[in-house]
Amino acid sequence: MTPMEINALYHGLKALADTGLLVSLVEGWGTSEEHASRAGTQPAATALLLQVFEGSGLLERRGDQVRASDALSYHEKGVSSRQERVWTHVGPWLRTGAPLVRPNHDAIGKSYATDVVEMLARMFAPAAHRLTQALASLGVVNPTVLDAGCGSGVFGLSVIEACGGTLVAQDLPPVLARTKERAEALGLAQRVQYLPGDFMEVELPTVDVAILANVLHLAPAEPARRLLERVVSAVAPGGHVVVVDALSNGDADRARAKDVYAVHLALRLDGAHPHADDTLRDWLRPHCTSVVAMTLDEAMLGAIVGVRR
Ligand SMILES: C[S@@+](CC[C@H](N)C(=O)[O-])C[C@H]1O[C@@H](n2cnc3c(N)ncnc32)[C@H](O)[C@@H]1O
Repeated sequence: MTPMEINALYHGLKALADTGLLVSLVEGWGTSEEHASRAGTQPAATALLLQVFEGSGLLERRGDQVRASDALSYHEKGVSSRQERVWTHVGPWLRTGAPLVRPNHDAIGKSYATDVVEMLARMFAPAAHRLTQALASLGVVNPTVLDAGCGSGVFGLSVIEACGGTLVAQDLPPVLARTKERAEALGLAQRVQYLPGDFMEVELPTVDVAILANVLHLAPAEPARRLLERVVSAVAPGGHVVVVDALSNGDADRARAKDVYAVHLALRLDGAHPHADDTLRDWLRPHCTSVVAMTLDEAMLGAIVGVRR
């Protein structure tokens, strides 16, 4: 990327948002003239700028029409104000290393319950579907499942929806209220039990499949390893342990996305860090007869699945 391109995208994105062009592009297909007309911008200038965004993969084209890519839509819808709050902290963070917040459990539970869990459910639903298909192909049928730090339950609920079985949904109490709503909406309420509390302390049931999705990156290496060991210990021999997290899986683009995510986590939370793929595998290997990694989305989400020794 050239320095000029960085400027065009950086300032251009702000201008797309300020003029209303971004909303028009997210709402759907249109020629650049149609988008300009909706936003009240100058047509020739609009066409030139949209070309830059298309060239960078942030717009999709169909004939003479363009619209926002999934990534750009995601940026605009609902999460952009939250993202903005995080990323504008980059200056203070660079000087002090201090994250935006240093929350305690109460604050974490309330904040996830109010504005994060729903967003994660929408974001991860396709990945959860892919994981479920992979588990089904490994012969997982009617399992008892533990989803620790389950949030909306997007992963655990998806597994029992497709493979049958029952789920123990584990998280902090305010979050489990959201999990329950999702279980009810999916017609799965009868097959779900709830285990409120700190996943480092609550007694975990023995299960066929244990899931830790997007949780290990919240903690530095030592507590993260201890949490994984707790969860692995809950899996019966021959059962599956599933870690869903940012994984580069040997791909340069995914590794870059993971580097960006490392900054994003450090901006938000004390000690949060996406652990190296090899580290996660090394933590699992002593407890498993096999450990395989898979890709769950086009960005950086992946899963490591181990079969319990
Ligand atoms: C990034 S979210 C991931 C949620 C879900 N697994 C997913 O992938 O969508 C992290 C989850 O861990 C939960 N969590 C954080 N600390 C926890 C703790 N000490 N005990 C139990 N849950 C915790 C949060 O409440 C939140 O729901």
